[in-house]
Amino acid sequence: MAAEIAERHFGLKGLKGRLASERDQNFHFGPQGQGAVLKIVNAAEPEDAIRFQVAMIRHVKEADPDLAVPLVRLSKSGEALPVIEDGKGGHHLIRAVDYLEGAPFAEAAKTPELLASFGSFLGRLDRALQSFGHVGAHRDLDWDLRKAGRSRARLAAIHEPEAREICDYFITRFETEIEPRLAKLRASVIHNDANDWNVLVSADGQAIAGLIDFGDALHTALICEMAVAAAYAVLDAEDPLGALSFMLAAYHREMPLQPDEVDLLFDLVAMRLVTSVTISAERAPRIADNPYLNISERPAWDMLRRLRRIDPFIAKAILRQACGFEVAPGAAKAAEWLTRNRKSLSPIWGRPLSNHCILQVPFGDASHPLVKAAAAMDVAACETAWQTLCKAENAELGIGPWGEKRAVYAGEMFQSKLIDKVRRTRHLGLDIFADAGTPVFTPLAGRVASVEIEKEPLGYGCVVLIEHEPEPGVTFSSLWGHLSHETAKHLKNGQMLSAGEKIGTLGSSQDNGGWLPHLHLQLVAYSTDDIGPIPGVGEESYLDVWAKLYPPAYDFAGLTPETFHRDGRPGDEIVALRRKTLLPNLSISFRKPLKMVRGEGVWLIADDGRAYLDCFNNVAHLGHTHPEIVEVIARESSRLNTNTRYLHDNMVDYAEKLGATLPGDLKVASFVCTGSEANDLMLRMARAKTGEKDMVVVDWAYHGHVAELIDISPYKYKRAGGAGRPSHVWEAQLPDTYRAPADWPIEEHGKRFAESVARQVEAIRKAGRKPAAFIAESIPSCAGQIFFPPHYLEEAYRIIREAGGICVADEVQVGFGRVGTHMWAFETQGIVPDVVTMGKPIGNGHPLAALVTTPDIAKAFNNGMEYFNTFGGNPVSCAIGLKVLEIIERDRLRDNAKAIGDYLMARFRDMQKRYEVIGDVRGMGLFLGLDLVTDRTTKAYATDFANRVVNLAREEGVLIGTDGPYDNVVKMRPAMIFTRREADLLCDVLDQAFARASAEA
Ligand SMILES: Cc1ncc(COP(=O)(O)O)c(C=O)c1O
Repeated sequence: MAAEIAERHFGLKGLKGRLASERDQNFHFGPQGQGAVLKIVNAAEPEDAIRFQVAMIRHVKEADPDLAVPLVRLSKSGEALPVIEDGKGGHHLIRAVDYLEGAPFAEAAKTPELLASFGSFLGRLDRALQSFGHVGAHRDLDWDLRKAGRSRARLAAIHEPEAREICDYFITRFETEIEPRLAKLRASVIHNDANDWNVLVSADGQAIAGLIDFGDALHTALICEMAVAAAYAVLDAEDPLGALSFMLAAYHREMPLQPDEVDLLFDLVAMRLVTSVTISAERAPRIADNPYLNISERPAWDMLRRLRRIDPFIAKAILRQACGFEVAPGAAKAAEWLTRNRKSLSPIWGRPLSNHCILQVPFGDASHPLVKAAAAMDVAACETAWQTLCKAENAELGIGPWGEKRAVYAGEMFQSKLIDKVRRTRHLGLDIFADAGTPVFTPLAGRVASVEIEKEPLGYGCVVLIEHEPEPGVTFSSLWGHLSHETAKHLKNGQMLSAGEKIGTLGSSQDNGGWLPHLHLQLVAYSTDDIGPIPGVGEESYLDVWAKLYPPAYDFAGLTPETFHRDGRPGDEIVALRRKTLLPNLSISFRKPLKMVRGEGVWLIADDGRAYLDCFNNVAHLGHTHPEIVEVIARESSRLNTNTRYLHDNMVDYAEKLGATLPGDLKVASFVCTGSEANDLMLRMARAKTGEKDMVVVDWAYHGHVAELIDISPYKYKRAGGAGRPSHVWEAQLPDTYRAPADWPIEEHGKRFAESVARQVEAIRKAGRKPAAFIAESIPSCAGQIFFPPHYLEEAYRIIREAGGICVADEVQVGFGRVGTHMWAFETQGIVPDVVTMGKPIGNGHPLAALVTTPDIAKAFNNGMEYFNTFGGNPVSCAIGLKVLEIIERDRLRDNAKAIGDYLMARFRDMQKRYEVIGDVRGMGLFLGLDLVTDRTTKAYATDFANRVVNLAREEGVLIGTDGPYDNVVKMRPAMIFTRREADLLCDVLDQAFARASAEA
């Protein structure tokens, strides 16, 4: 009969057979390639619905002609839907559509390419349907996912308790969380039944060849299209969410979805399956009649069982990631906040973690004894392997990085719930290995959200979750695992902790699930409202998702990125290259040289990521890489850098501002690039002003590296390689009150030392000449951090001026507020020099230096010869100098130098009581020295001891130096931003170093 109808109405020949269908009767007609399907429509089907299908397919064909959907053929009389009688008085609509060639998707290998092709096919289809509407599309079908709640009524047909629980779980979620949100999502006409028997695959199996059976099409929430298709497409996938991600990403490229839509997808997929299995269960008695209904049921149950084990929050994150959306609301904001604010966080480990000597624990290496022991849960062997490692690498701490692929996760609990037959191997926290009992502190204020003890082997032991909300709208949590059980006694849910407050201590192996004592620190970058179970180990293929949900806690814990990525040549290679390519008399600090790769505030970061507390470099006056200075350099360099022969605001502004910091007539500035240049210019001025050449200098002084300055630097000309004192240079005795003759009354030290200046002037006079100048560092540094006794410079200046010379203060090391009480160290002596030279801190690392003098001397220097300096006074350098001055004032850094300096002096004096070797403690503000002696009576120089202390401090991550003619003075000049916490670290490390060196001595 079908053949006859087909022939009569559509001219179709060659009946090939009947096609399976739930509702209609379908017949396939030849010929190959141009075949058609005759559909005798079920009489129960409303006519509107049929007309809607026909219109829908036509619309799709018009909107996207290449999309393979079965085109509706017209009958011989030009109708799309002719009517036939069935001979029993019934009327049926009939229609013919193109037969699409292709194998069922159900039988195809679901490769990522095919899944993506399916996704884009549906995306294109739904895009085409955006401009389509039809009265027949508004139907009431159980298969409409918006009606999936009806499954509740069908639950009674499911008798097996586990199966019922699964359905109930998803139905409850649907009722409470999904349905209300689904109702608000955008709706359109969708195919609604892209199940894997309705989808056809090309002969090569790589692409979708067509989509058939529009019988369930209707107007509903757009996202249901993907949900229905996915429910079948991923049924036998080992990684259903991965397979769905391939489809979804491709769909989203064609038909962009919204995060709210994607958020419901996981539950909708499950609900499609729930709908299907509950309908089947209800129809069970009738199933024998219609095997089609039952076709995908067992796999549906298997899949439901698997979906039930997956945390919907994680599923949501994975699907959001597939669309390129933020994986969890607020996660990006939290990560961004942490990066931006990492410098303001308190150390989690008492002192900054990166300041420790850290080794990477080789958990990635399955063959390592430590890993073998850990996998076998042999705690004793683990401890031994760990101790051996620490000793070999001289390490204090071990770290296990985030994302590391680990061989140790062998237990059943590490089986993936997301992917079949896959193990979770990637570590999602940061492990820090140290002794049990080590205290840990929260870097940020927070509220204790939970304190639990997991007793099972391989569990966390005591685990604490802290919620942080550092600013409104930024919320994340930190998870602290493997703590001691003692910790749980002191912490309560809801307790508020302030930044730096102790959380607890590391648990022993007995306390912490049988692991080597360590902290598992994991960030949870989403609001705690959403927190379900937090995986500590994750699947490798979802590492990109884990990175966003549980970002590495490196910034949070205070580890530097360099800890994990070493760049450039290794240190020993650089040493060798320096020998070959550079001057051999460039010295290198420390017995074990350091390769520094980055500076940040008071810290210098070495190539292995260790951060060293820089207490020595006075050039980085405001701290290394001060962001405002970096900004000025970048801004001004990108605007103009030229010489002083053009007019520019910066140079005059700077001269004016610098002059304003100085007393008296010191108002005329000259800008140069180095301290040496400033002092060299000073020599020319002194000569121009006085017509003389003889210089009075302080013994052991250093004023610069150029030839004329080596000549006035006893620290150079008297030591190795020096040619001795030139005849125009006269050395005044170093006014070292610590080593002054015992019979000098203390109050006369200034005057008595100044007598040596008078003796030099007398010697010059005897030679028939006059002094050109007297130069003194305001606090001689190379000479050993020597503080002049009161009235010394007053006397010296008087003597020199009376002899016709000028007086010069070398402030290259000590200027710019370092002494705390004053901007310039000479001010502490109550005098006003004729020339002040400045360098080092002036540009916070930028090569800038200056000389400031009086109009009188400037006039004398103006003898007709042009003064030109290619780089000196350029607009960029002057802008930097201006900024440095501004920050010193604005941030009240002199006050800080005074306060921290006083604190350090008090602690040093306390140490002096405990260590005989500390002969003298000297300091003002942040310019400090410890004069070490082997004997407090003879004051013999303890050079070796000083050297040992400096190297021991370096091993502990603190950088200091030695100076003085015998290198016995421990010298410290930390940045002006030094804090009390850093001062404590310096003192603690020094204390330890003195103790160790004393024990060895
Ligand atoms: C007191 C003093 N003056 C001058 C200089 C020379 O400065 P520069 O090295 O910038 O040429 C130095 C350098 O160490 C110094 O310490």
